[in-house]
Amino acid sequence: MDLETALRSQAHACDLLGSQMYADLLDRAADDVVAGGPTAAVLAGHEDDPGPSGLALRLAGSIHRLVLEGSAPEVARFYPSVGGTWEADAGWEAVRDLLAARPDDVRAWLDRPPQTNEVGRSAALMGGLLEVSRLWPGLPVRLVELGSSGGLNLLADRFRYRARDGGEAGPADAPVLIEDAWTGAVPTDAPWPDVVSRQGSDVMPIDVATEEGRLTLTAYVWPDQVHRHERLRGALAIAAEHPVDVRRARALDVVEDLRLEAGTVTVLWHSIMWQYLDRTEQDAVRARIDELGASATGDQPFVHLFLEPTRRTPESRHEFWLVLETWPGRGEVRRFLGRSHPHGPPLEWEDTRA
Ligand SMILES: C[S@@+](CC[C@H](N)C(=O)[O-])C[C@H]1O[C@@H](n2cnc3c(N)ncnc32)[C@H](O)[C@@H]1O
Repeated sequence: MDLETALRSQAHACDLLGSQMYADLLDRAADDVVAGGPTAAVLAGHEDDPGPSGLALRLAGSIHRLVLEGSAPEVARFYPSVGGTWEADAGWEAVRDLLAARPDDVRAWLDRPPQTNEVGRSAALMGGLLEVSRLWPGLPVRLVELGSSGGLNLLADRFRYRARDGGEAGPADAPVLIEDAWTGAVPTDAPWPDVVSRQGSDVMPIDVATEEGRLTLTAYVWPDQVHRHERLRGALAIAAEHPVDVRRARALDVVEDLRLEAGTVTVLWHSIMWQYLDRTEQDAVRARIDELGASATGDQPFVHLFLEPTRRTPESRHEFWLVLETWPGRGEVRRFLGRSHPHGPPLEWEDTRA
């Protein structure tokens, strides 16, 4: 994908997903590439990068990380994530000056894949976990996650949720409040889940106990989406008190090692990671999930819960569905619990209890 197209298409996506700042910034960066300005020099050599590698997000994340580190104060005053205010013309001029003055500093992060851990997706996952709790009230929950990144969504039961109708659920003093978390009949009357173990995994885990790990996750959150930054800050604070183990492993190795345990419900969940598995790994993970399901009993149920771009029927388009499969007995029934925004809230609950 050529540089201009990479920047313009990401600008358009940011516009649709609610970041006017990145829509402005990346459009101007595209103009600058066409004009042969500093953006072209910084991105030289990346002309043939594949579209899904997210070159524009890598560029934006690298600039943001210089802002967050405090080494680019003249740019920082336009970045809402650090208290600034975005102004399209003056903000772009400051960014362009940075690209011209410190091309090597910006290029230093261009070869890293954008790494995010979207805390807002806990709205969907937690809605599903409440349904699990409704099905098996009081049974202790073992959470196992694939593609956890920093593992922050494994702390979903420690966040507070405010539904669109004003109802709230979760610990009252939680440092994370997910606003507008749910619409519809999320089973908030179910007992709050008793999570007794949490195991994360990722091929490239982020260690949120380190400054570098926290900086990485923060740098790829779009700077004008301050609610996402607030959620991330709160979740990092919880993780500092309640560390979650995220092992370096691919999804297939995790499910191959997984066993069910008597007296607990094992919940295998994942969000926005399936597309990164090749077809062979997807098929093998799927086969192992069915095998685990077959080993489930009333005393050791098994749940597969995921938020992934999914087609509800072969004819329908991909949407961000929260899907629930449960065993014993009902794994063949996929329940489409609700649809979500790619970054999380709101989960629009649609399930009519099967
Ligand atoms: C878009 S991120 C989503 C992270 C997190 N689940 C969330 O919703 O915020 C996708 C994650 O999947 C991980 N990943 C990619 N391929 C994987 C694989 N084969 N097995 C396990 N994790 C993988 C990536 O390293 C990345 O952290």
